[in-house]
Amino acid sequence: MSKPSAAIVGGAAGALALVAIVIGVVWFYKIHCKNLSNKNSETGSSDPSAIVEWSRGGPSSGVRQGARLFTLEELDQATKHFDESSLLGYGSFGLVYKGLLRDGTVVAIKRRPGAPRQEFVSEVTYLSEIHHRNLVTILGYCQESGFQVLVFEYIPNGSVCNHLYDTRLESSTKLEFKQRLSIAVGAAKGLCHLHGLKPPMVHKNFKTANVLVDEDFIAHVADAGIAKLLEKIEEAGPSRTSSVNIFQDPEVGASGVASEMSDVHSFGVFLLELLTGQEALDIGSLGSNESLFQWVESRLSSNTLVDRRLAGSFTGEGMRDLIRLTLQCMSFPGRRRPKMEMVVVELERIKEKEMAMTTVMGEGTDTFALGSVLFT
Ligand SMILES: *[C@@H]1O[C@H](CO)[C@@H](O)[C@H](O)[C@H]1NC(C)=O
Ligand SMILES: *[C@@H]1O[C@H](CO)[C@@H](O)[C@H](O)[C@H]1NC(C)=O
Repeated sequence: MSKPSAAIVGGAAGALALVAIVIGVVWFYKIHCKNLSNKNSETGSSDPSAIVEWSRGGPSSGVRQGARLFTLEELDQATKHFDESSLLGYGSFGLVYKGLLRDGTVVAIKRRPGAPRQEFVSEVTYLSEIHHRNLVTILGYCQESGFQVLVFEYIPNGSVCNHLYDTRLESSTKLEFKQRLSIAVGAAKGLCHLHGLKPPMVHKNFKTANVLVDEDFIAHVADAGIAKLLEKIEEAGPSRTSSVNIFQDPEVGASGVASEMSDVHSFGVFLLELLTGQEALDIGSLGSNESLFQWVESRLSSNTLVDRRLAGSFTGEGMRDLIRLTLQCMSFPGRRRPKMEMVVVELERIKEKEMAMTTVMGEGTDTFALGSVLFT
């Protein structure tokens, strides 16, 4: 076994120790989050933006917004009659358009053919009540003239795919390591929020294409709950046995039952794409720890695991910890994977450390003093 691969496999074996540390940190956070919630906007469940959303839309304020019912005419105008020039892409819910509402709000509009269904309304109403700064919010819906339409907030800078491996945008953006870590933290918090709902919500279709970034490169996870919505409203059940989905947990393929743990697997594949800078096309059949380690080993020994564009912009320790976390998220059996709550804590630890290193090198600010106090 070569040295680097031994380190990785050894590292994965040391996973339990790491998990123990992470549990400790989660515990620490829980004890201290009351004191910190005012100062530190980055602590998962004590996220002030969530609190703001709650006080704005919560029952006490009496202005709970809920899902707005749009008319097809309004959405038709917003998209210049669903013109091709308004087209943003194609997703699991059909074509996606950019729209400009009369009040000036820019939105993303997803349209698919479908007869009106009461389940559609109740599901969308439920989904529209989920607010978090790292989730794309559903604003409303429309069921008219043989179409089902969903209206979402618009996230201006597109999906992480565009910035990671879309060659058309070649040198326009190069996400550096710390940016990738920030995006990973944001996306993890979005998933963590879903898993913390009562009852927990499984995303079911988490993938890099569903992680959108705004102008500040803050991550917003899209399409939460849409896979389940489609299962409910599609007449013949989930008919689309879509082509191989590399993000899907192989264990779900066998049992058909998605869980928080299968979201964690999908998140691991997302982390893998973040660190390789490539679509994880060739990991399709990695259904066991052994094949996963073998794949990572071979990439390490041929020096093709880490995105070349990252050269010189990361610490070995930070990268090693990220690879280790990626392997844990993708490991088998699913119940041995870390919970998203722990993934958030570990990613934040890696990010803070990476930031602190930059501070030492003279680039950063003193805003990370809190981070170093927290983790010592
Ligand atoms: C992303 O946002 C930046 C500004 O923060 C902008 O310059 C850039 O063009 C945007 N890229 C895309 C693909 O939208
Ligand atoms: C796979 O690896 C994880 C740690 O990364 C470990 O907890 C789990 O027990 C391993 N599974 C098997 C089947 O060896």
